[in-house]
Amino acid sequence: VQRLVFLGPPGAGKGTQAAALAQVLGIKHLSTGEILRSHVAAGTPLGREAEGFMTAGQLVPDRLVLAMLEAELRAPAASAGFLLDGFPRTLAQAEALDGLAPLDRVIFFDIGEGTLLERLTQRRHCPQCGLVYNLVTKPPATPGRCDQDGTPLVQRSDDREDAVRTRLRVYQEQTAPLLEFYTRQGRLRRLDANGPVEVVATRLRAALG
Ligand code: AP5
Repeated sequence: VQRLVFLGPPGAGKGTQAAALAQVLGIKHLSTGEILRSHVAAGTPLGREAEGFMTAGQLVPDRLVLAMLEAELRAPAASAGFLLDGFPRTLAQAEALDGLAPLDRVIFFDIGEGTLLERLTQRRHCPQCGLVYNLVTKPPATPGRCDQDGTPLVQRSDDREDAVRTRLRVYQEQTAPLLEFYTRQGRLRRLDANGPVEVVATRLRAALG
């Protein structure tokens, strides 16, 4: 059983690497951002409470995210291991997670802030199959359409420049302190997240080996 956490600023490539790695390892990929977006799309009570925070680039309150995550970790799908992507994001979340499940490793996606704004404002995804593109680094074959199913690509509401700037500030203020928390626990591994997707994937496998 592997219990992993990916930590790092928005746009560092956590989701891109997590989707591929979880498949290879046969463990559950738990992206709290993805789960929250599916609640928003379905109009659940949680989704209705979370939506305003997300669009503004702010964190969803801990009590909401924690209740949601606890249910996900208890589900049978997570019993063979999990990869948490985008959780924890506050010290309160990290402390709560300690009481829920012992972690094997926390991977910190280390990347200069300069690249992040462009990566995020150029990101698009397919609302049908979820594939993630980038207009600069991973454009679709036909402009504006998904390679897999031809669906028109869309932009996340929090990938507009003002929301991205807020997310980067919120990361520094509320999430970056977790680096020290996990360093003290001896669980943190630093990953150089600069460079092409395949290069980062190779480094990631080395960091886990
Ligand atoms: P969430 O969905 O977690 O967003 P995030 O942390 O801001 O992360 P991103 O998805 O933006 O970035 P990523 O690192 O996954 O990058 P990606 O691989 O897509 O959270 C969204 C919101 O939900 C939060 O703001 C908050 O409101 C709420 N929320 C979620 N979890 C919460 C929690 N625990 N507590 C409270 N609130 C919570 O890559 C980005 C782009 O770059 C893509 O276009 C990709 O194609 C491209 N790319 C990736 N890797 C490379 C590479 N190596 N080279 C070039 N381009 C690359």
